[in-house]
Amino acid sequence: MRKAIVAGNWKMNKGQNEAIECFTAMAAQSWPDHVQVVIAAPFTHLSSVAKFTESKSNFFLAAQNCHPEANGAFTGEVSIPMLKEIGVTHIIIGHSERREIFKEDNKFIARKVNAILEAGLIPIFCCGEPLSIRKSNNQQDYVEQQIQESLFQLGDSDIQKVIIAYEPIWAIGTGETASPDEAQEMHAAIRTMISERYNVEIADLISILYGGSVKPANADEIFSGHDVDGGLVGGASLDPVIFEQVINSYPA
Ligand code: 13P
Repeated sequence: MRKAIVAGNWKMNKGQNEAIECFTAMAAQSWPDHVQVVIAAPFTHLSSVAKFTESKSNFFLAAQNCHPEANGAFTGEVSIPMLKEIGVTHIIIGHSERREIFKEDNKFIARKVNAILEAGLIPIFCCGEPLSIRKSNNQQDYVEQQIQESLFQLGDSDIQKVIIAYEPIWAIGTGETASPDEAQEMHAAIRTMISERYNVEIADLISILYGGSVKPANADEIFSGHDVDGGLVGGASLDPVIFEQVINSYPA
């Protein structure tokens, strides 16, 4: 059975005190047992919020990025062992903002995937097409290339540990959401890609999250897609009360 996951990506938002307030509020919330909740906070807050995730067995801490090397002369970067040491269990990689603004390519992202798995942590691998590709109806080929070049080097046991987040770039922070049918269609296509490269059993074990303007008003419809195993939520994860509503929108 694949896992249900609702993850929040805070991006470059909140000071440390505000982060602690949010984690304190979340530790007191009640969530469905079958849903894993992950928060990706800015690097500087991770060590001070890690202890709050111990309040529940389904509460996890993520970083928003990492460098593939364990240490060395990479000024300004943060390594996977550094994150692991302070209690991070998941790492977002390949977010479209990293790809577009910081020019990260599929090959570099593949190195991060490999290093995260080698360290025993869980990559949340983001993929998704820009508007121009969606308009020309080439979104499945575009996403397939991202997945092929960053994930398909993995063996049968490692691929099962990856969480995939499909985030159409045109739906991120825009208020525009893929329709539940558009989300389901791409998620099913991703699962087919994986079953063709590996097999149906493996494809069935992989959680595929949808990201892009998920909020309480649309979460239950999006999460009801057969191949949609949860969400990667930006703006609506910043307020713990609103995010709790998104978490509780996951089907029972
Ligand atoms: P929004 O939910 O703000 O559209 O952001 C989505 C996202 O990029 C999560 O990683």
